[in-house]
Amino acid sequence: MTKRLGIIGYPLGHSLSPRFQQAALDALGLDVRYEAWETPPDALAECIASLRSPDCLGANVTVPHKETVLPLLDSVDEEAALIGAVNTIVHRNGRLVGYNTDGRGFIQALDKVGFDPRGAGVLLLGAGGAARAVAFALARHGALAIYIANRTVERARRLAREVNDVSLVATGLPLTDDSLEAVWGAYELVVNTTTVGMRHTEDETASPLPRRFLSRRLLVYDLVYNPPETTLLQEARSAGARGVGGLGMLVHQGAAAFELWTGKPAPVDVMFTAARKGLQHA
Ligand code: ATR
Repeated sequence: MTKRLGIIGYPLGHSLSPRFQQAALDALGLDVRYEAWETPPDALAECIASLRSPDCLGANVTVPHKETVLPLLDSVDEEAALIGAVNTIVHRNGRLVGYNTDGRGFIQALDKVGFDPRGAGVLLLGAGGAARAVAFALARHGALAIYIANRTVERARRLAREVNDVSLVATGLPLTDDSLEAVWGAYELVVNTTTVGMRHTEDETASPLPRRFLSRRLLVYDLVYNPPETTLLQEARSAGARGVGGLGMLVHQGAAAFELWTGKPAPVDVMFTAARKGLQHA
């Protein structure tokens, strides 16, 4: 019997997951179809219930369902509970278990470019769902200081308080020139988790960080992967910094999900090739 996997989100127009997950399943010769399950909020409960069918291995979950899906599951692993969001569901004998592989994907993507967060100072831009996964992962992997700068400062402060329950390293700040000035020099990694710079948004050509807060001693990691070269990354490179786009995190979070569903090592190179190809059409 052909098994099923899929991604649950709304809308799903530009999702690359079906392309690179199917490529990985095919590369391992697994008889599994990975589908796009576009699901409006009022159909979420029914969609989740359908995952309990014996031919279904699980699912990925994306915007806007990552938080609202939690109460519909039988259990949620510790990290996903801490983050308050699930991006991967595994079906085990009628039970649905929630995981969040975003933080792991981020750390693996950093590792691939040779950056070890242990002892590092980090400027984290944004305080939404993606920022939560990144902040907890950095705290857990030994970052020394995490400055969380967000347009809505209260969200940054709340995330900092929660991270500090795990490891006392986080500070919440408003995303303003004055507060960025105050932490200038205290970080060697900048991570953009805001949606600024994303294709198909009104901020597509904007950068979340003024140029003067970039310098050659920084690694700038932009979670945005479409376009591959955001304005932030262009400005980082022209300041002499290393700039890395978000495709690595996307693929590595997917690879971690693949391993949870199949119990087999993910063919990461195959996934990268398929994701890059998909991006040309996204
Ligand atoms: P995700 O789950 O993908 O992280 P989200 O929870 O909607 O998405 O978070 C989006 C992030 O981008 C937030 O930090 C948001 O800032 P606010 O908390 O103030 O809304 C940030 N963001 C979005 N548009 C922005 C803009 N034009 N300038 C600065 N930050 C922006």
